[in-house]
Amino acid sequence: MNEYAKSPLAARRSGPLKGRARVPGDKSISHRALIFGALAVGETRISGLLEGEDILHTAQAMRALGARVERKGEGEWRVRGVGVGGFREPRETLDFGNSATGCRLVMGALAGCPITATLDGDASLRKRPMQRILDPVELIGARAVSAAEGGRLPITLAGARDLMPVVYRTPVPSAQIKSAVLLAGLAAPGETTVIEAEASRDHTERLLAHFGADITVDADGAGRRIRLKGEPELVPAPVKVPADPSSAAFPMVAALIVPGTEIVFTDVMTNPLRTGLITTLREMGADIEVLDRRGDGGEEIADFRVRSSALRGVEVPAARAPSMIDEFPVLAVAASFAQGTTVMRGLNELRVKESDRLAAIAVGLRANAVEVAIEGDDLIVEGRGQVAGGGKVATHMDHRIAMAFLVMGLAAHNPVAIDDVSFIATSFPGFVPMLRGLGAELA
Ligand code: S3P
Repeated sequence: MNEYAKSPLAARRSGPLKGRARVPGDKSISHRALIFGALAVGETRISGLLEGEDILHTAQAMRALGARVERKGEGEWRVRGVGVGGFREPRETLDFGNSATGCRLVMGALAGCPITATLDGDASLRKRPMQRILDPVELIGARAVSAAEGGRLPITLAGARDLMPVVYRTPVPSAQIKSAVLLAGLAAPGETTVIEAEASRDHTERLLAHFGADITVDADGAGRRIRLKGEPELVPAPVKVPADPSSAAFPMVAALIVPGTEIVFTDVMTNPLRTGLITTLREMGADIEVLDRRGDGGEEIADFRVRSSALRGVEVPAARAPSMIDEFPVLAVAASFAQGTTVMRGLNELRVKESDRLAAIAVGLRANAVEVAIEGDDLIVEGRGQVAGGGKVATHMDHRIAMAFLVMGLAAHNPVAIDDVSFIATSFPGFVPMLRGLGAELA
């Protein structure tokens, strides 16, 4: 993607939104399906894969590392893996684009391969902290040959054949750190343990078990202790990727704030470590009905009927943040249309996402005449039941800031413009046509 050619877009107040929507496949599971497929011996079949730019970068990295990755049809992919520790030295720099998940998980997987690889990304990814991954992978036995200042990309990483299994406490609740350690631990003899003080999304644990690894997860206070037996032969297993709740979040909030709306969302993953937004919206008075809950390939899914609702301000506890870490931009939009104050606590990690989201949300809300404050790590939004709008929002190469403010424009009195729509393609290609198909006015 050309980082310098920005494509602006505006959303304007729209009539009732109506219809059914199936948002694309879950981004977290899509990255992992490709990476675990590449580490298994034999062919993994994936259906419903997200074909966003972030995932295409991970697919390309797996190819560069020696796996065969083929697209057979829409969302239908096959991966022929090389086995744990079997990556070959890539000829070129591995480019992860905008995606920290792809980059950080692959850093873990590279640790146990006796090769050297250089990893890089776009201007947003180059700003993001990677020392949080270098610390554990160096402890396990890999070595950072070079890194930009502050342990940032581009990074050249040398893996090793003799890894040390470790007991690692993640310094912040992060599924990416946890997953990198577990992926490195796959190549270490003996048992690798990760302890997290608060439970983060557990797709890595679920998929490792699905691919035949010996992994145990126990409660540990409010968090978890995960133990993985190293040096397994991962066995290919089919992966059916459910619809991404973090993508569904945007049209769901649109459904709540646009009067007269009713939308049914199908196949949405309901993993409890991902549903903090639904819990919060319900506390705010949202009319969200579960139509059909069912199990599907290791994850529960459901259809949801969402109708426009009068929302009220609530307090979101810090302990809930990991289960909705990507949903705060759009929750801030919902809070702007609520009556009363919404306090979102414990958002420090938002400062190191695709952009400094805490700042980007506050600046975007103010540009649209919403009263907002940042106090320490808390975000406080004063809801007045309606939003003036009329602002132009800087998206800072951040897909979720872009989508959140387009959603705001669908119910604000005046149009809301964003400076750049292009990064939405990293996670939700088809976002704009899907909204238009439901009746939204975007131009
Ligand atoms: C992800 C974990 C989260 C999340 C990201 C995807 C994952 O990041 O923000 O979009 O797939 O593991 P952290 O683990 O850094 O919180």
